[in-house]
Amino acid sequence: MSYPYQITSLAQYHVDYRKSIEDPEGFWAAVADNFLWRKKWNRVLDWNFSEPKVEWFAGAKLNITENCIDRHLATMADKPAIIWEPNNPEERVRTVTYARLHKRVCQFAQVLKNNGVKKGDRVCIYMGMVPELAYAVLGCARIGAIHSVIFGGFSAQSIADRLEDANVEFIVTCDGAYRGGKDIPLKSIIDDALIGNKTVKRVIVYTRTRTPVSMIKGRDVWWEDEMDIAEEQVEKNGSISFPAEEMDAEDPLFILYTSGSTGKPKGVVHSSAGYMVWTNYTFVNVFQYKPGDVFFCTADIGWITGHSYIVYGPLSAGATSLMFEGIPTWPDAGRFWDIVDKHKVNTLYTAPTAIRSLMSYGLDPLKGKDLSSLTVLGTVGEPINEEAWHWYDENIGKQKCPIVDTWWQTETGGIMMSNIAGITPSKPGWATLPLPGVQPVLLDEKGNIIEGSDFAAECLKASPPVGGGGLEGAGNLCIKAPWPAIIRTTWGDHERCRTNYFATYPNLYFTGDGALKDAAGNYRITGRVDDVLNVSGHRIGTAEVENAINIHAGVVESAVVGYPHEVKGQGIYAYVIYNGHHGDEDMRRQDILQTVTRVIGAIARPDKIQFVTGLPKTRSGKIMRRILRKIAEGEMQNLGDTSTLLDPGVVEEIKQGKL
Ligand code: WT7
Repeated sequence: MSYPYQITSLAQYHVDYRKSIEDPEGFWAAVADNFLWRKKWNRVLDWNFSEPKVEWFAGAKLNITENCIDRHLATMADKPAIIWEPNNPEERVRTVTYARLHKRVCQFAQVLKNNGVKKGDRVCIYMGMVPELAYAVLGCARIGAIHSVIFGGFSAQSIADRLEDANVEFIVTCDGAYRGGKDIPLKSIIDDALIGNKTVKRVIVYTRTRTPVSMIKGRDVWWEDEMDIAEEQVEKNGSISFPAEEMDAEDPLFILYTSGSTGKPKGVVHSSAGYMVWTNYTFVNVFQYKPGDVFFCTADIGWITGHSYIVYGPLSAGATSLMFEGIPTWPDAGRFWDIVDKHKVNTLYTAPTAIRSLMSYGLDPLKGKDLSSLTVLGTVGEPINEEAWHWYDENIGKQKCPIVDTWWQTETGGIMMSNIAGITPSKPGWATLPLPGVQPVLLDEKGNIIEGSDFAAECLKASPPVGGGGLEGAGNLCIKAPWPAIIRTTWGDHERCRTNYFATYPNLYFTGDGALKDAAGNYRITGRVDDVLNVSGHRIGTAEVENAINIHAGVVESAVVGYPHEVKGQGIYAYVIYNGHHGDEDMRRQDILQTVTRVIGAIARPDKIQFVTGLPKTRSGKIMRRILRKIAEGEMQNLGDTSTLLDPGVVEEIKQGKL
């Protein structure tokens, strides 16, 4: 494959950026011309942010799996599409060629059809990181079903809520999943999620760990049996195997739930054509992908990073995507480096939290590992601190690999701001420049665009710039116009999409992030400005954690804030008013943690729980989180004005009891 839209020089970046802003329709039509369409679009872009309504390539017909698989078969049938590295390094690696991927995806699409799945139906996928997860995702896309992948760390209750929200009728899962030294009983968690559920008709179970599972007659079927039946059927169709469903450009491709500032996660909806073009364009450009490169994104497919940069971006570009079942620290902290060495990985794309965690093991785990295949490194998910950036640069990239710091969100579908590997300059801790098609703008709280305002000066005092250079401003980060993979709606509740993203500032998409901008136009993301935490690169709403804690019988009230955590980026700090009498403080903490694990999942467990007799509230009953946040951060002075508090005495008590 060739990529005529690949940016090959700094000058071209500037030319392309300008073109994309001055003539977005012409620019994206030219990019989109390089894909496989059953029918081309009538109109490239139609939009308004007030509803919001965004349509890219309206009238076009396509199937994303024909772009990710079929179109590569003529020239790359034997090329590895997926290299699968198992949790246990002793187990056999699986290499899935494009031809094999085609066969398996077609077979699984047939399985879905045999089980009654139709275009537009929602299919929940709750699996470990096995190639079958990719087959399941692509199988859904092939028949036009909407996949909703749920990360294996979420609890039965979280799954139940998501099943209900999207009226799901079909589930694909595994008996269990291996993650480091643990076996996670996925099917049994699904069984719990299905207690009382009335909509799910079929559960397809792939055998991975061969843990005992209950299989309910008439509802549960084995993946292997279904695939055998389907194999005979698709073979009758010859090379077509399973004809892909013809989709409209704007038909939904998937739902992915993510946390916001309210208690209930929202189902972010992405559509087919725009998402395809954007993930491919950003993949090819940011990482400067070259044919033959092995691309290793360490995320789980349960998150957007895995959707966009393990599955759709790399495969649509005909790349080799490395999929890893395990975790970075098992059997030891050299696992990533073993994988890079063993598979001659060219691009490694991971999260700052993983880098910080591996840093803490020192350089021993790197001994004897050949990392010379690496040419590009990437980070995603949270701001990267300079120390981690330099460690990554010196010890992994040997100062020869550009590091791309990619800023984006579940809602943006793909990378929005990043340096372009080896082409635009990097700046440690900065996501640097917007990609073509992205028009960022910084605003103050009143909605004024910031260009050296007082508000900017104030923000800069609170968060001084690093790396020198003049600063132009700081504020809340918004985007002025749609890019192809912008969120289309939140499932089942379009108004929620509007109020969440398009109402804070009229006619702008509001990211929820704060940012600094330097005089050269580079951006540094400073973190969320809403009540959303970023724990190890995972998004968790404080309200969601509070709801979970409050479910515990002994809890009267709670308030959750984030605090800086050396490895996780942010840790979860919970202040809890408790009035039970069961066990000592430590036992009560464990009970609360158990409750949170049940309600959301282990990823939302607070790192610290402080019992308090009251919370700092204003006379109108509003919790003053600013004070709680400062105390959790260890800032005991300068708590600001506490005179408006109902009971200023409570602050003293909280300060005394800080953990
Ligand atoms: C939030 C989105 C994007 C995939 C993984 C997370 C933070 C993301 C960066 C970065 C600073 C970053 C933002 C954003 N974030 N990338 N390079 N530098 N912050 O997806 O769960 O939707 O979270 O992650 O705060 O809003 P997500």
